[in-house]
Amino acid sequence: MSEYGLIATVFLAVLLGLFLWPDSLQEKVKKRCETYLENHGLPSQKDCEKIWDSFTQAFVGKDPCDVPPGAYDSLIHTVFQEPACNRMMFWSKTKEIVHEFAKKCSYVTLEGTPLGFLLNGLTWCGKKESQEIFTTGCPSWSDCVNNPVRSFWNRASAAFAASACGDAFVMLNGSMSMPYNPNSTFASVEVKHFNSSIINSLTVLLVTKEGDKKTCESDESLKNLQTDLGSNMKYQCKVVPQSQLQTCIVD
Ligand SMILES: *[C@@H]1O[C@H](CO)[C@@H](O)[C@H](O)[C@H]1NC(C)=O
Ligand SMILES: *[C@@H]1O[C@H](CO)[C@@H](O)[C@H](O)[C@H]1NC(C)=O
Ligand SMILES: *[C@@H]1O[C@H](CO)[C@@H](O)[C@H](O)[C@H]1NC(C)=O
Repeated sequence: MSEYGLIATVFLAVLLGLFLWPDSLQEKVKKRCETYLENHGLPSQKDCEKIWDSFTQAFVGKDPCDVPPGAYDSLIHTVFQEPACNRMMFWSKTKEIVHEFAKKCSYVTLEGTPLGFLLNGLTWCGKKESQEIFTTGCPSWSDCVNNPVRSFWNRASAAFAASACGDAFVMLNGSMSMPYNPNSTFASVEVKHFNSSIINSLTVLLVTKEGDKKTCESDESLKNLQTDLGSNMKYQCKVVPQSQLQTCIVD
């Protein structure tokens, strides 16, 4: 390759790099924070900086397998949100459809709250005795329990559930053998944090596909849900064929 060829190649590579280089985590979160601000008026510009600071102090400089849910306490308090009583929607194994449904029908999922919106789909971790932030090479959900991403979702889920008020909803998957799975975040974190002095009822929307035979009455796992909820809140369950989710008429 000639000298000019080399220079041209390097030049092209740098140019390509500039266009293809993914946004840093900070830029992504900042953009989302500003988008949220534009659409909802909250939080304020200054808060986006503050949110970023309390987010990073939870995991930067720490062993990525040693970030417990409590590390996000300060972040949770920084991004306090007024709960949407009677419109809160939990979910398990229905990720593909629940958010669109919630948006269309004015329910609020955790991913629709400011915190969930800021960090949904992102990966992050730090390293002991380092100020660096990584978005690759981080422990996966199952590598270690106290990893930064899993702990964040557990802490945020706990706070979201603890604030649930009025009539709440959960969209479960009627195609699963165990729609209420004890290992799910819903069962292991959220149900445990419901506060029966502010929540009146939980309605299960059991989403089925054509051919699914599950009913609210026949499913054993839902009996466990009723037991876990205790007697201080009302439990209801409705089978909802997936095609019916095109409309908002479920209640
Ligand atoms: C229920 O789970 C199955 C298997 O994981 C999945 O293919 C299907 O899309 C899920 N249904 C809904 C409504 O999300
Ligand atoms: C829950 O997780 C444990 C450990 O990964 C596994 O052995 C068990 O089968 C799971 N239970 C259900 C009901 O999926
Ligand atoms: C449940 O809600 C009540 C009323 O807001 C509150 O006083 C109480 O501290 C909450 N309980 C828990 C465990 O957070």
